[in-house]
Amino acid sequence: MKKILAFALAALMLFALSACGKKETKTLTLATSADFPPYEYVDDNGQYAGIDIEVAGKIAEKLGMKLKVENMEFNAVVTSVSSGKYDIGMAGLTVDEERKQSVNFTDPYATAIQVVIVKENSEIKSVDDLYKEGASYKAGVQLSTTGDIYFSDDIKEGKTTCTVQEFKSGADAVAALVTDKIDCVIIDNEPAKSFVKANQGLKILETEYAVESYAICLSKNNPELLEQVNKALNELIADGTVKGIVDKYIPAE
Ligand code: ARG
Repeated sequence: MKKILAFALAALMLFALSACGKKETKTLTLATSADFPPYEYVDDNGQYAGIDIEVAGKIAEKLGMKLKVENMEFNAVVTSVSSGKYDIGMAGLTVDEERKQSVNFTDPYATAIQVVIVKENSEIKSVDDLYKEGASYKAGVQLSTTGDIYFSDDIKEGKTTCTVQEFKSGADAVAALVTDKIDCVIIDNEPAKSFVKANQGLKILETEYAVESYAICLSKNNPELLEQVNKALNELIADGTVKGIVDKYIPAE
């Protein structure tokens, strides 16, 4: 009898143990637009890299989850997170009142500035030149970005007589600038620096266009995950992890 009991117990323990082992790690899906160095891009080895990708990895680690990167066009990031298709959106994404209607945001983790890229010999010397009477410059932007929203609004409101052309990516806009199809590109400062570095004959105007902050977006239907992600993010900011990642990608000048 004792033997049978011992055997049954051992079998039970084995069963419990194997059930434990099978417990799989959950996946945290990240919606991003990997066309925005140094925040997110595809590196020379074809791997996703950048500040957002690494911070998202650390957040997943803290939540005991495995990160899966889902790459898409920028204008799909907010909509696909809002619909619940992906868990979090990180794409150098500016906290913006209109986006707040469809998604929740964590606390901000970075500050950014919208700047204007021109050719080195450009007539455009400052942002004000875009707002001068009768100005007819063509500004390139990435579709649905804040640069696009601000400048398109200014045109609609009659604040500028310039025109805007929307591109799929910042790199496409920059390529159009290089080949003189447009006169300037309005984009976030860090990607601007990286595009100017990658192309000859470009510069960034000194006047800043707009200051904003980046945060992670989540579906409105998942307040628990918002709280968990926000907590993890704030811990990573407090212990210097985020700064370490930023310093790695944006070396002090
Ligand atoms: N910060 C700007 C915005 O939120 C531009 C972001 C573009 N991000 C990207 N991964 N292409 O609208």
